[in-house]
Formats: sequence, C-alpha cells, structure tokens
Amino acid sequence: MRTHYCGELRKEHIGETVTFYGWIDRRRDHGGVIFLDLRDRSGIVQIVSDPQRTPDSYQQANALRNEYVVEITGRVTQRPEESLNTRIPTGEVEIYADKIQLLNAVRKQLPFQVSIADTETVREDLRLKYRYLDLRRDRMAQNLQLRHQIVKAMRRYLEDLEGFIEVETPILTRSTPEGARDYVLPSRVNPGEWYALPQSPQLFKQLLMVSGLDRYYQIARCFRDEDLRADRQPEFTQLDMEMSFMSQEEIIELNENLVCHIYKTVKGIELQRPFLRLTYAEGMERYGSDKPDTRYGLELVDVSDIVKNSSFKVFRDTVINGGIVKILPIPNGNDVISNVRIKPGGDLFKEASEAGARGLAYIRVRDDGEIDTIGAIKDNLTEEQKQEILHRTGAKAGHLLLFGAGDAVTVNKTLDRLRQAIAREFGLIDPEKINLLWITDFPMFEWNADEKRLEALHHPFTAPHPDDLSDLKTARAQAYDLVLNGVEVGGGSLRIYQREIQQQVFEAIGLSPEEAQSKFGFLLEAFEYGTPPHGGIAYGLDRLVMLLAGEESIRDVIAFPKTQQARCLLTDAPSSVDAKQLKELHVASTYKPKS
Ligand code: AMO
Repeated sequence: MRTHYCGELRKEHIGETVTFYGWIDRRRDHGGVIFLDLRDRSGIVQIVSDPQRTPDSYQQANALRNEYVVEITGRVTQRPEESLNTRIPTGEVEIYADKIQLLNAVRKQLPFQVSIADTETVREDLRLKYRYLDLRRDRMAQNLQLRHQIVKAMRRYLEDLEGFIEVETPILTRSTPEGARDYVLPSRVNPGEWYALPQSPQLFKQLLMVSGLDRYYQIARCFRDEDLRADRQPEFTQLDMEMSFMSQEEIIELNENLVCHIYKTVKGIELQRPFLRLTYAEGMERYGSDKPDTRYGLELVDVSDIVKNSSFKVFRDTVINGGIVKILPIPNGNDVISNVRIKPGGDLFKEASEAGARGLAYIRVRDDGEIDTIGAIKDNLTEEQKQEILHRTGAKAGHLLLFGAGDAVTVNKTLDRLRQAIAREFGLIDPEKINLLWITDFPMFEWNADEKRLEALHHPFTAPHPDDLSDLKTARAQAYDLVLNGVEVGGGSLRIYQREIQQQVFEAIGLSPEEAQSKFGFLLEAFEYGTPPHGGIAYGLDRLVMLLAGEESIRDVIAFPKTQQARCLLTDAPSSVDAKQLKELHVASTYKPKS
C-alpha cells in the first residue's frame, strides 16, 4: 500500500518506513552504490541501495533501467551534507530501499529521454506520436496540473460564489453561427442528413436562459474546421457562460472578479481591478489591432491629413480614395534597422507584404538630427510637412518612422505585425507583465469582400448598441473581448432578445426570412415565449492556460492535441473507414487519391 507520493517526502519523515510507486527517472552506479531517482506525478525522490546497508534490494536495484515501474519500501534518511540537493523539494532526504519490486520493465528503446534531468529538445512530431511518454516529462505534467487547477478555480468561483449551474449541451447538433467551417457527421438512421459538431454552445445557452436557468456555465468542447495556428486547434475547450438580467457592466465586473480569482488561487497574484478598457476604434487607431499587446508602447500615428495635400502621389491618392496613411515610430530604430531590411527581400518588407502592403516608405532621423528619407518622400513632402510629421510622431534623433499607406484594414494589419516584430526584436516585452484589457464597442458588422456582403463580426445574435439603432449597418455592438498580453482569451456580448431587432440584423447580413427560419427557426420560436434579457461570454480555456503556463503554443497545454494538419499523430486520425461503414451511412466519397 502506498504511504506517500515521491515528491512529498521531507525532513520530518526521517526515520519512517515508507512505500511508494513510480518510474525510474535515472539510475547511477557510484562504485557499487546504486542511486535511483524515482518519479511519480508529484515529483522525484532519491533512492539508495548498496550491498552493506540494503542487501535485500541490491540485486533488483542493479537491474533497473530508465522508466521501469517499481514499488519501493524503504527508510527515510537524512542526506549527507555534501549531497544535499536544493533544486528539488525532496533534496534533504534519501530512501534506503529495503525492498524493490519490479512491476514492469521497458521492452523497447525509448524514443526520447523522459527524465526530468534531461533538457534535450525533442521534435514535436515525436512528442505527439509518443504523447503518453511526453506527458510523463516534467514540463507537460506541470502544464496538465496547471490546467486542472485553473478549471478547478473557475468551477469554485462560478458555482460556490456566484451560483452558476453547469449544464451539458449536445455535441451532435446543427450548425452554429460562429462563422468557421463545420465538422459534419452523417446520420445512419436519417439517410442523407447530417449533424454538425458545435462551434460553440451559443444557441443552447441562449435557450437555457429562455428556460429560466439564469446562470449557466460549461467547460465545453468546441469544434471548428479552420486553418490552424499556434493558438488554434480544430477541437478546443471554452469556459462558456450565459446569464440573465445583467447589464454589460455587471457581466464585465463578474468576469474581472473571476479572472482575479483564478490568478489569486493558481498563481498567488493579486490583479488590479478594473482592467484597462479600449474601444475597438481606439485599438485600431493606436495599435492597428483589436487585440493589442499594450505591455509596450510603439503606438501608431495617423498622418493622413498631413500627406493628403502633398505632391507624393501614392500618399495623396490613397487618402483621396478613402484610404489612410499611418506611421509606426521606432525610437532608436535608425541605427538598428538598415534599408536592406525595409526594401524588397528584407525581413521587415516580407513581414509587411505578408500583411498585404506593397512597400514600406520611411523617414530616418539621424543621430545629428538630420532627416533622411526614401527618394519619393524627400522630393514630394515640403519641409513644413516633414516637420509636422516629426512633431506629431514625437520623433527625435535616432527615430525610424515606417509608413503604411492603403486601405485601413491593410495598413493596420501591416503596422500591427511590424509593431509586434519590432517589440520582440528590441526586447520591449516584459514577460512578467500581465496586461489584461477589454475591447468594447465592436462594430456589429464587417464587410466580406469575397461574398460582397456584411457579416456579423461576433455572431448574428449580438445586440446592437441602443444609441445606434437608427442605422444598423454602422452600429456598434454591445460586445466585449478580453485580451491578455495581445491574445484574445475571451469574447462575449449582450444578446438580441426582441424579434424585430433580430429580423433587422438578419436583413443586414443578407439572410432572408426563409433562410433565417430554416437555420435558426427553433431559436426564433423560443424567443416568442418570454425571453429574458441576457448576455454571456466564452473564454478560450486552452489559450488562457497557455498564457498562464508561459507556453507559446496551445498544443503544449492540451493532453492530446492535433498537428497543424489537424492530425492526431498518436492514433493517426483521421483515417479511412470501411466501405461497409460508408454504405450504411449512405455516403460515397468523391476523393481521388493522387497516383
Ligand atoms: P468566440 O468565437 O470569440 O466566441 O470564441 C471564444 C474564445 O474561444 C477561443 N477560441 C479558440 N481557441 C482555440 N482554438 C480555436 N480554434 C478557437 N476559436 C476560438 C478564443 C475566443 O476568444 N459563442 C461565442 C461566445 C459568446 O458570445 O458568449 C464564441 O464562441 O479565446
């Protein structure tokens, strides 16, 4: 019977006989004395075996190898002064092994070293293929524990302090309105019909408000078939919440308290409330982003009005045609960033062109205050215009000013990317800082140039701002996103609960009453039976854990994640299925493998 976990043993246990289980992390033979590091999920402890002090276990100890599974009974002893280990919590003690029982050996060569002492970086595909071994390793084991602690803190806060009830919503369902591609599943018993996996529990949680549940939450699995990045997975987890009879302010306050509670319980950090707030318009204006990282400055400056009257055709025409010209001012950028990097072929040019920019104009302020520019600016901006630009951007000796010119979306995207790249390069990001901010007043809609129609920025159930009802197309939404260190960790809104407004929104996005009825008829009907005002929010749990764990990818905080190609390397999903299965499902594949 286990008396302790390995990582629990301390000085106060000296003299006790203890029994524990674990994996051999490392085995060392020091001239006939065997040292074993034994590891379980709580940590590591040192075991000693030699022919004099522990004759009964010596043969066994000698035969053990890395990752063998054992049961050990032994005496907790004080380590000699010279072998104290301050790097591990059990470093003051060691265990004289009276009995070692081998429970299982390793029969194949390990694909990589598991030991916590091993700092080798292992290829991610190998880690994912042998994920069960990867999860034994210290970093991943800690990430899973942190994830658990965070979810536990969420549940405690919402259930015990705020009266939320967890309800599970279906996984086999209809398409939901979050705007990504659906994963669909054929129905065997309803030939020709398909379920969609939920992109979020959005519609069900609103129905639960109609049911009078008042405060709902769920740790909910969501599925979105979209292009993957470091912070996106095809299946991911949300902390999903919905509440009735609460204003936007009340929802924001409750959520700030929730986030403070999580940081306090999990990290012991007291966050300052209220969190910063920026409107969407301010975020775009100052940072070119609706999820700005404001741990550092490098704010953008709009100079459209100055260059509008210049003889520089590119700038002038851009502004006349409804575009904008903005600047990213980079203090001390003049020395560090050479022209080669800004011109075609250079890394910063590449960064900009990936965002859609065609070129990067610049002004340099030399150390002696002399201004140096690319030719076109030199010849086509008056001295007065140049001085006005320097004044507005606060440029001093050593500054580099990078211009973005074009439609607002491209300019903001370009300068946002450059701003982040420069901040990383110049070491402006303090990793200790926790920068939480709300972005509010999103526009209701954005223009989808491909489909030539307005599209709901959040989803079509988001309520417009009451002051903007006269022109829905340009209305602000009562929506809010929570941004942590430049990552969107959550988003939500107040919902429409009046039929007329819902219809106007459907019209604005080009959804005919018939289409609306066929897609969301069940919801619209439910809204006829006494719907409370309600609103909610969902957090990307994986992203939140990633940031709290200091990881760069959400794959490192998900037990069994998918690759960028949406594959599970462990089970090798997705895979083909039997022709018989397809037949039962009334499905035929049109896929033709490349020969
Ligand atoms: P939204 O679509 O903004 O809102 O999603 C909420 C949060 O989920 C996270 N997230 C993701 N995380 C990992 N991989 C993905 N593919 C992924 N997509 C989104 C983000 C995001 O902020 N129903 C609404 C919420 C509401 O209005 O209450 C919704 O799903 O952190």
